[in-house]
Amino acid sequence: MTHPPAERSPTAPVRDHEVLLEVRDGAVALGGRPVLRGIDLSVHRGEVVAILGTNGSGKSTLVRTCLGLVPTTRGEVRLFGTPPSRFDAWHRVGFVPQRATAAAGVPASVQEVVASGRLSRRPFWRPAGRADRRRVAEVLETVGLADRAHDNVATLSGGQQQRVLIARALAGEPELLVLDEPTAGVDLESQQALADTLRRLLASGATVVVVAHELGPLASLVDRVVVMQDGRVSYDGPPADLPPDPQGGHHHPDVDSYARATDAVPEVSSPVDRLADRAAADRRAWRQE
Ligand SMILES: Nc1ncnc2c1ncn2[C@@H]1O[C@H](COP(=O)(O)OP(=O)(O)OP(=O)(O)O)[C@@H](O)[C@H]1O
Ligand SMILES: [Mg+2]
Repeated sequence: MTHPPAERSPTAPVRDHEVLLEVRDGAVALGGRPVLRGIDLSVHRGEVVAILGTNGSGKSTLVRTCLGLVPTTRGEVRLFGTPPSRFDAWHRVGFVPQRATAAAGVPASVQEVVASGRLSRRPFWRPAGRADRRRVAEVLETVGLADRAHDNVATLSGGQQQRVLIARALAGEPELLVLDEPTAGVDLESQQALADTLRRLLASGATVVVVAHELGPLASLVDRVVVMQDGRVSYDGPPADLPPDPQGGHHHPDVDSYARATDAVPEVSSPVDRLADRAAADRRAWRQE
């Protein structure tokens, strides 16, 4: 079932209904076990889609499948109209994976991590220019971390590190931003900062897919909710028509997700990380300023 995007406001950008993400009859198995089945999902340009569902219902697998990070056993996936295996315009996509940390093994400043989000936008031989610097400063301002630009990311709180990664994704000026539980374990101030950031991003015509534990401050921004249940889409429609959850919502309380978010966290694995070597060189260049 596909719903055209709802009007957000009379000033919202005109939507051409171009499909940016599409899964048709998708199925995924992980470790030999079926995880997603019968998935039909289309995300149109300009939409804000929230993906909800209990733990283990397949939300992360769904967004990772849409980005070609998980192979399908059946069905078709299209990213900007192209099968993910042939897609190479990664600067059009920003992805912040679940339980990510901005702190890598090597010390890096907030500014350096955010600047790595610009790498996919320029040829490998060209150093950061004025536009890159302006954008990095802008997104740090947007996520409320301008005053931490020169701090080591490892010294930031979990919520602030999440904001660094969101800033990095925004730095690339993506047309499509995919966030996997950006508000899990994040303090209210950071949640509000995220909602404000997204509001500004949407005004510029971006498309957002956000996996959320609860909509919280994002509720007013969401056009459409997709509910995952046991590897299937059990609801796809406007938030207002969402049937009440007989199980009382998500299974884990905030405190659990905070514990998970602060566990030994895997390294960030997003498409932009394929440019890790360039990121290191870029960090050195920023330091030489
Ligand atoms: N690498 C893997 N190998 C085997 N099974 C996996 C793997 N990753 C996930 N799964 C299983 O797939 C199912 C869906 O996992 P997924 O992470 O997509 O759920 P989720 O809805 O994002 O959960 P959460 O709310 O906890 O983030 C779960 O049952 C999980 O155990
Ligand atoms: Mg998940």
